[in-house]
Amino acid sequence: MIKVSAIVAVDKDFVIGNLGNNKLLWKVPLDLNHFKNITTGKVVIMGNNTYESIGKSLKNRYIIVLSRNDSLQAKITGVSFCKTYWDAIRLAVKLITNFGLSKEIIIAGGGSVYEMAYHSLDKIYLTTLGIESGGNLKFPGNISNDFKLLSEYVKVCTDSSVACKFQEYERNE
Ligand SMILES: NC(=O)c1ccc[n+]([C@@H]2O[C@H](COP(=O)([O-])OP(=O)(O)OC[C@H]3O[C@@H](n4cnc5c(N)ncnc54)[C@H](OP(=O)(O)O)[C@@H]3O)[C@@H](O)[C@H]2O)c1
Repeated sequence: MIKVSAIVAVDKDFVIGNLGNNKLLWKVPLDLNHFKNITTGKVVIMGNNTYESIGKSLKNRYIIVLSRNDSLQAKITGVSFCKTYWDAIRLAVKLITNFGLSKEIIIAGGGSVYEMAYHSLDKIYLTTLGIESGGNLKFPGNISNDFKLLSEYVKVCTDSSVACKFQEYERNE
């Protein structure tokens, strides 16, 4: 059975970024490392704004970018482009089946893609950072209402001194 999971980092106010601005609001290496650990060996789906903010493909992951722009596939190598969320899910399932990849599809944002995917998510990897970023784009949905907590631990990032709460949630039956 293939699962669909989201991975997201929020600040104390559930902010994930800034609308209309792709710049990351924080740099917390401990969380980047967590992202790498969770996503390695998996198919990762993200919106074109998020992809542009990363600016490159990611090693050891199969990246599918959502975009309505036809010309990107011809210009950019190393990732696949899909025009709808369900096309992206279908391609992810095909890749997992054909290449024997991990049976977990990861939704990596941003705001519009989390919103589209929210109701089909089986699981959420949530990092809560102990900062107030001042951003205006929040994670959509009510995680504590729709999901149950499976695990959590807190660790301080030694490089940034930011406290990170790492939680895993599974959708309520
Ligand atoms: N804190 C976190 O964990 C986290 C994670 C990821 C991103 N972010 C933040 O989130 C923000 C970006 O979010 P966003 O909502 O602006 O952008 P986004 O979801 O990353 O990308 C939006 C783009 O994806 C494409 N798209 C969206 N829906 C589509 C659909 N149904 N079919 C086809 N293509 C579709 C469109 O690309 P085209 O315009 O090319 O058609 C759209 O402009 C940034 O601030 C980023 O830093 C935060």
